[in-house]
Amino acid sequence: MSLGRPRLHLRRTDSTNLQARRLALSGAPHGTLITADEQTVGRGRQGRSWVAPPGRALLCSLVLEDAPRLLSLAAGVAVADAVDRWAESPATLKWPNDVLLGERKVAGILVEGRPQAGWTVLGIGINVALGASDLPPELREQATGLGLKSGAVEAVLEALLGSLEAWLPADPAAVLEAVRARDALQGRGVSWSGGSGQAAGIDDDGRLVILTDRHRVALDAGEVHLHRPA
Ligand code: BTN
Repeated sequence: MSLGRPRLHLRRTDSTNLQARRLALSGAPHGTLITADEQTVGRGRQGRSWVAPPGRALLCSLVLEDAPRLLSLAAGVAVADAVDRWAESPATLKWPNDVLLGERKVAGILVEGRPQAGWTVLGIGINVALGASDLPPELREQATGLGLKSGAVEAVLEALLGSLEAWLPADPAAVLEAVRARDALQGRGVSWSGGSGQAAGIDDDGRLVILTDRHRVALDAGEVHLHRPA
């Protein structure tokens, strides 16, 4: 699949996803990788920002042609596999693709692009060397890091690229099985913009199934909030 070549590394940029989009629009080939030490307007899902202190996180974006049907989920599995190499317990996935260690987020994934035009940008941020003091107080309960030194960012990138090479072309059934095995929401109380209920797995289209008092709902986009035990 040859992911990671050519590679452009920037000490500081607005967002590696924005850089990758610009390069994709000017014809960058499949597999082009943008990395940065620091982002000034890191982008997160749902219009949020993504904040990471310089040099302490893996910040990367790949230009992909012909993105697989379950790209967002496959990327989550790939990141979780890479994270597992350094974690004490297996990473879990909060649908669609937040990667958690314990109850805290260690990595985030942002897929953007125009598949009809033949390109998609897969952006990934992994908290490699982040400590609690690096995070704003409101994020300390929600985020965590791998507990490595800054110098480990390249090793994490290498593991991630190998894992993406294996998972992006994988059979959708294998991706779904791996997602289900890491499902952090299974059986738990969740709420979303349309209501609340109990998470009941991932269906064959990669949607999150939620059982409410009266209905079975399948979400194909958006975000759910996990009800934490009192
Ligand atoms: C999320 O909200 O969980 C997704 C976060 C994605 C962050 C990564 S960091 C590298 C790439 N560039 C960006 O601007 N965002 C993604």
